[in-house]
Amino acid sequence: ENSRIALPVGSNLDRFIMRNQEDFPYASGELSQLIRDLAYAGKVVNREINRAGLAGITGAYGAENVQGEEQQNLDVAADIRFTRALKKGGEVAAIISEEAEEIIDLQNPRSKYIVAIDPLDGSSNIDVNVSIGTIFSIYRRVSPLGGPVQMEDVLQPGKDQVAAGYILYGSSTMFVYTTGKGVNGFTYEPSLGEYILSHQNMRIPENGSIYSINEGSFNSFPEAVQDYVNTCKEREYSARYIGSLVADFHRNVLKGGIYIYPSTAKAPNGKLRLLYECNALALIAEEAGGAATDGKGRILEIEPSELHQRVPFFVGSKAMVEEASN
Ligand code: AHG
Ligand code: MN
Ligand code: MN
Ligand code: MN
Repeated sequence: ENSRIALPVGSNLDRFIMRNQEDFPYASGELSQLIRDLAYAGKVVNREINRAGLAGITGAYGAENVQGEEQQNLDVAADIRFTRALKKGGEVAAIISEEAEEIIDLQNPRSKYIVAIDPLDGSSNIDVNVSIGTIFSIYRRVSPLGGPVQMEDVLQPGKDQVAAGYILYGSSTMFVYTTGKGVNGFTYEPSLGEYILSHQNMRIPENGSIYSINEGSFNSFPEAVQDYVNTCKEREYSARYIGSLVADFHRNVLKGGIYIYPSTAKAPNGKLRLLYECNALALIAEEAGGAATDGKGRILEIEPSELHQRVPFFVGSKAMVEEASN
């Protein structure tokens, strides 16, 4: 258990980060500043999401991203906001983004950190006013500071993350993150412009009775996944699938449950991307006592080979992920 004196619920993210920093004796504050920069960008994106319908920034942007997906205006707007905030913050050397085919080199060669980000997760839900999210991973550069960013800096396994988190733009907006000492959730109070500590030391229930999977692709699931889904039905579990990974994941963390995006005919390696979706949520899951696999081994052990690679994703309550993974 982390030794830190529990902060009273109600303290804000800034104070929590400061207290957290004491746990890293040699920290010189760059990581703290980086987390603040992400939290700030989240406030800006939150405001744009809450008024998207009025500001005419819903709908399609009119271009495709490297995934072959039709970019939504908010995908692009969020990508710009996070990239700009990290560039200005000065703590990040390069960004990997779902919305950028290549590494975004921020020309800060002396900066220690790399960020992998899904600026807006759940794009299909933007125009229908359903919860969406942002997912981020933070790594330390491995190549010499001052030199150009290398592929080895951005293709690191999830177990080497320095921090990871997500923002959920839901009925309330939440900032949830870990630096390897447990998971803490902050609820945004717009009237103060502050994230307030609301979910201290989040733990995923060991077991659960909620399963989240897009059964539209049932016929092309691997047989083991079909068997597991049928078992969930025999046990009369609840099926909950929002279609926004962050929202489905967050509910399963609080209530217990499993989210699966398996191999399908349309997506033989699954749809979710290792670098900016699966690794971050896998670290959060394990830090909260849950589990995350690709159906065989730990997500966090996978050595990435390309920026936008996809992996099958099984994440949530430990007992459920272990049963569903063979
Ligand atoms: P993104 O909007 O960042 O591309 O991610 C969407 C993902 C994830 O959020 C969601 O769970 C999944 O796509 C839904 O995919 P299906 O519509 O194929 O179920
Ligand atoms: Mn997308
Ligand atoms: Mn996504
Ligand atoms: Mn996205």
